Amino acid sequence: MLLVRRGLDKMKNIIFIAPPAAGKGTVSDFLVRNCNYEHISTGDLLREEIRRGSPLGEELDKIIKEGNLVSDEFMIKLMDEKIKALPKDKPFILDGFPRTIKQAESLDKMLVSNNVTNNMVVFLDIALEDALARVLGRIICPKCGRSYNINHEEVKPKVDNICDDCGIELEKRDDDTEESFKIRFDSYLTNTKPIIEYYEKKNMLKRVDATIPLSDIFQIIKNEANK
Ligand code: AP5
Repeated sequence: MLLVRRGLDKMKNIIFIAPPAAGKGTVSDFLVRNCNYEHISTGDLLREEIRRGSPLGEELDKIIKEGNLVSDEFMIKLMDEKIKALPKDKPFILDGFPRTIKQAESLDKMLVSNNVTNNMVVFLDIALEDALARVLGRIICPKCGRSYNINHEEVKPKVDNICDDCGIELEKRDDDTEESFKIRFDSYLTNTKPIIEYYEKKNMLKRVDATIPLSDIFQIIKNEANK
């Protein structure tokens, strides 16, 4: 009876906290493909707006290229809409939100007001030098947003520079320069790292070494999300 019930239970919702290029998008992609997760990536949402070429997109483009954070006010409003619209029958992943204590506090309220329980926070831990190396080797699909890396077998595209799923040419992200990365990493240390303690105190945090093989990262997270 217990086995049957567990099989029907929904996996935990996952909130990723991590430095830039730790692998949030890559791990999310795996969970979407294999575990029926709904994925909200703030970076992808903002890049979509930029591609539309709207005046708002132009403003966001400048902020992101420089490696700075978009305002809390804008991000909280955006996420409030996205969380309200989430399907109730699937677990979800938040990839890129919260990034400040103010965003974390707002997220708590959003989850309570939308009756969302069964959440865990995964901190993908990576040092600056390792993250920088990943940024410099990263190529992404402009259509589906999937991340690849020219330096790692596990995440290389099957055909050089072509998305496995969309069959179109991969490109570098505008903000994947050493200069922009260092600003993003500093911003992570100042604004995002304090959130780790915030969730530790709530006993919600699972720390995962982001430099181990991807297959191990997937397994650890999958096991935790099923507990
Ligand atoms: P966002 O797109 O979220 O950028 P980020 O946090 O810098 O994260 P990345 O997308 O760079 O990395 P990732 O962790 O997803 O790594 P990936 O899986 O690609 O946001 C962009 C910008 O939007 C921000 O800078 C900010 O301006 C703004 N923004 C977004 N959210 C915001 C918010 N809440 N508030 C304010 N502003 C906000 O992996 C990286 C590379 O490593 C890839 O090449 C991948 O193939 C490879 N890789 C991944 N895992 C492994 C592994 N285990 N082994 C080997 N290679 C690996």
